[in-house]
Amino acid sequence: MLNFAQTVNKQSLKMQARTDTIIVGNSLSVLQNLESESIDLVITSPPYFQQRNYGNGDLGIGNEDTEEAYLDNILAVFFECVRVVKSTGSIVFNLGDKYIEGALSLLPYKFAIKATENKSVFLINQITWSKLNPTPRQDRRKLIQATEPFFVFAKSKNYYFDLENYLKHLDDFNKASRGKPTEKLGKQYFDIIDKSDLSELQKENARKALQDAILLVQKGEIDSFRMKIKGVHKEAYGGMEGGRNNQIRNNGFTVIKILGNKLKKDIIESPVEITKDNAHPAVYPLYIIQELIKLLSKENDLVLDPFCGSGTTCLAAKNLKRRYLGIEINPEYVNLANERLKQSLTLTQELFL
Ligand SMILES: C[S@@+](CC[C@H](N)C(=O)[O-])C[C@H]1O[C@@H](n2cnc3c(N)ncnc32)[C@H](O)[C@@H]1O
Repeated sequence: MLNFAQTVNKQSLKMQARTDTIIVGNSLSVLQNLESESIDLVITSPPYFQQRNYGNGDLGIGNEDTEEAYLDNILAVFFECVRVVKSTGSIVFNLGDKYIEGALSLLPYKFAIKATENKSVFLINQITWSKLNPTPRQDRRKLIQATEPFFVFAKSKNYYFDLENYLKHLDDFNKASRGKPTEKLGKQYFDIIDKSDLSELQKENARKALQDAILLVQKGEIDSFRMKIKGVHKEAYGGMEGGRNNQIRNNGFTVIKILGNKLKKDIIESPVEITKDNAHPAVYPLYIIQELIKLLSKENDLVLDPFCGSGTTCLAAKNLKRRYLGIEINPEYVNLANERLKQSLTLTQELFL
């Protein structure tokens, strides 16, 4: 197989960037030939430091002699990613830590610090992947390492972020499992309003707001609500200035609507992929990548993975109707990725679309 970066000119690579393809080549040199600001989202997992031999010779990243040399190589690729990403885009790097002489190296964090030092990007989130099935190798003096960070960087405050579509299946599950509102819902507040010291107009407005909130629960638009009434309930935030307290002071009441959506935290749970039919030794979970793609891109956007391995990012992008571009130095993995891309979705994957 040819080294793509040495055999194609800039124009044809620009063409490639528009089509769904995996380029065989050294990511740094391929990236250097890509147009600036042409990619919507980068998601990748570079080789971890001295963890595996992917059989890629001198151009392969990961088996440098020193941490410094490794970080320099990863950062060179990272900053090319920064250049090719649009100002509305983001860059996700997943890196694992490693014990060196009994101590964690902190290499992922050293990378993140260096990546943000020149301020060309800022870190939106460090999402922790919590592994449901970590390697059960219990050291007597250490806990099992069951997490890995996904660093999410953006180029500008205008980055694309679709919170609603991230982990949407959990919201849908929450809504479906909500019980039916009872007859008594919110009724106690009518009494409290009547007996309160509010003016007649304030009481009338409070009853109306209460009735509206009950209706929203009945229609399933909110999970529940609470009401705070002047002179009856404590002020919010210990009485500090704030929107809610202003409402209580000015209107005599406030209604706190409880949406019931699961809070979207910077942690995601997923098993390590252990599919027998994937010969790549370090596949990351399709589920996590699909969720990140839903969060950080929209349909038809172009998603790049400069260390694409068995093509998980490309597959996730394809499943979600995004375009993809992969770069992988090892032609055997590219064949593997193309094979995966040809296969249709499995039932499990469909569950999360
Ligand atoms: C951690 S694996 C990525 C696995 C991928 N996320 C998946 O789910 O299959 C890193 C990949 O980077 C590739 N690689 C190493 N050095 C490279 C380089 N300089 N350019 C392009 N790919 C490289 C390795 O061959 C390996 O497949």
